[in-house]
Amino acid sequence: MARRAATKSKPRTASKSRRTTKSSTTRRKTASRSAASRKSTARKTASRRSAGRPTARRRSARFGMTITPALAKLARQMSTAMSEMMASPTDAITLLKRDHREVETMFKEFEQLESKAEKGKLAAKICLMLTVHATIEEELLYPQAHEEIEEDLVDEAIVEHASAKQLIAEIEAMSPRDHLFDAKVKVLGEYVQHHVKEEENEMFPQLRDSDIDLEELGEQLMMRKAELLEKMSSAKR
Ligand SMILES: [Fe+2]
Ligand SMILES: [Fe+2]
Repeated sequence: MARRAATKSKPRTASKSRRTTKSSTTRRKTASRSAASRKSTARKTASRRSAGRPTARRRSARFGMTITPALAKLARQMSTAMSEMMASPTDAITLLKRDHREVETMFKEFEQLESKAEKGKLAAKICLMLTVHATIEEELLYPQAHEEIEEDLVDEAIVEHASAKQLIAEIEAMSPRDHLFDAKVKVLGEYVQHHVKEEENEMFPQLRDSDIDLEELGEQLMMRKAELLEKMSSAKR
């Protein structure tokens, strides 16, 4: 908590003036770009990103998640839901906030559960969702945000993701019957709550004022999320 107080008091005037200059340019640029060209750019970007990607299993190992058959099934279900969402593209912030609300609901549901088996299933779903969410933010949002908004905010978010991933790895390695399982899921929920609050209250407002095309980024995030879920759903253990 002390660290947060210190961070919030840092002067941020330099990046604010830069943001003010960029915002009018952004609006003109966004207005003049057609939806068709945004989709085309997003498709090209996704295609470039796909080239030479590691396999689903190697990638999943990289972000510390082993895809069990149960997780693959879960990813398949989430992937199906994604295809419906892709029919109505949305901007990056709306998409990320939707993920935040969804995972918050899951943490609340976890608190209400009694059955160890159900807790295990829901914790696996939470870990999968957070892993995908963190991955798309780290691959697509944070690099652009680092160029456009206060660097400190982005650096802190990266460190917070690393702490959450560590806890996710520990939860995944546990049985829901283990002594500290519930406590670890609860602490993960508290980490996430803190992180989401910072993203939504500090990072996202700066992104809205930045030069980033949030519509295009939203499409890229959605496509990458669908791609990750698709790869996870077909990953062999
Ligand atoms: Fe987020
Ligand atoms: Fe994040």
